[in-house]
Amino acid sequence: MANQLFATKSLDVLMRESVDTGHGLKRALSAVDLTMLGVGAIIGAGIFVLTGQAAAQHAGPAVVLSFVAAAIACVFAGLCYAEMASMIPIAGSAYTYSYTTMGELLAWIIGWDLILEYSLGASTVAVGWSGTLVSMLNDMGIHLPPQFTAGPWTEVPLADGTTGFGMINLPAILIVALITVILVIGIRESANVNTTIVFIKIGVVISFIVAGVRYINPANWTPFIPPNAGKFEQFGWTGVLTGAGVVFFAYIGFDAVSTAAQEAKNPQKDMPKGILGSLALCTVLYILVSAVLTGIVPYQKLNVPAPITEGINATGIYWMRYVVNIGALAGLSSVMLVMMLGQPRIFWSMAGDGLLPPVFSKVHPRFRTPYITTILTGVAVATAAGLFPIGVLGHLVSIGTLFAFILVCAGVWVLRHTRPEIKRPFRAPAIAFVAPAGVVTCFLLMYGLPVETWERLAIWMAIGLVIYFAYGRRRSKIGAGMGG
Ligand code: ALA
Repeated sequence: MANQLFATKSLDVLMRESVDTGHGLKRALSAVDLTMLGVGAIIGAGIFVLTGQAAAQHAGPAVVLSFVAAAIACVFAGLCYAEMASMIPIAGSAYTYSYTTMGELLAWIIGWDLILEYSLGASTVAVGWSGTLVSMLNDMGIHLPPQFTAGPWTEVPLADGTTGFGMINLPAILIVALITVILVIGIRESANVNTTIVFIKIGVVISFIVAGVRYINPANWTPFIPPNAGKFEQFGWTGVLTGAGVVFFAYIGFDAVSTAAQEAKNPQKDMPKGILGSLALCTVLYILVSAVLTGIVPYQKLNVPAPITEGINATGIYWMRYVVNIGALAGLSSVMLVMMLGQPRIFWSMAGDGLLPPVFSKVHPRFRTPYITTILTGVAVATAAGLFPIGVLGHLVSIGTLFAFILVCAGVWVLRHTRPEIKRPFRAPAIAFVAPAGVVTCFLLMYGLPVETWERLAIWMAIGLVIYFAYGRRRSKIGAGMGG
């Protein structure tokens, strides 16, 4: 049994499995589509919501430096993902990379962990989407019944002026249902919808930067790093670090590109372009947005659910609020789309290896999408989004993602030593530095997250281990091959 836990999947077998037979997933995506998928997954609740909180509570104008710090951790991880994805272009992403490097048990753990990133990530963003819609409609004088816009653990203001609890978050459920339908219909259709949305949201982000730059008051940037207020997380350099942990959420998603590996026309060349291109573009936009925002609004005033709208109010160009809200709604939709595209493909790969039931590996005969896992993902994401508040979900998404990043960085390094002969169309530079630096920086960001988040991660992993020992270990194809 111990042998099976550490058994790795052969790279040669993987390569054979990834060949397009005409019946499996459809190879339809170019380098541009992949980059757009990355941007689609990245720009969302992080920049539209969390920037304000990170500036007001942790870093002040130096939230710009928090964005730089989080980007550094992501660049290390991004380079490692790019090498892995070009070398092992399989839809399972970090799950598959771990299977070939560190064995079945760790692969299962990472596959289970990725549910936190993709499914819970989509649920978090769906709740944010619903909140943005409700506030935009309120602004226009349209009031939805509050009980139907939040789950049972979220307080809502009632029509009679009192407060009560929500029942179900219907807008969140509806947007998830719509996205699930698009994802089932086809990868090409999904990519087209994503590309359209990405153009809208980049347009809105750039408009904000261009409109805001003229209203910057340099006094708002002084002091750039407000002095520490007595607690680790309140300003000063330690506040900048805490801010980096918060805004890390804004970068999550570039890795989702790797789950489309089996739908890319030329994955070995284009995966690194998609992963690193989207990360680079978003990093530049984030640094500019946070600099402009803290330049036009004193950071103390940014602790609001819609900080960018606050920025627009400060410029006095009120009609732009609607543009920004539409950009935010569009932005959040594409994040959900790409996260909900990634998740079923990971389940699909896990089912192909026998770790999940065989029905999960079905591909729709006409649409050529993993429709069973896509629908199951939609139901799970909608359930979590319909019931839970956003705060509980967000940190868990970050810790799960950072954990995956650490294993990918470690995995690249392991493979450089154990399989130096494999063809690597993309090689991460200075791997002896980049891989360990990725592990350390991601761990530092994890370390900064609250204790309860670590506890929830531990509980989630314990559930995963029970499922593995009760099901996956017995059904695994590698296990069967070993007579286990
Ligand atoms: N990066 C994604 C967002 O900010 C998850 O919404």
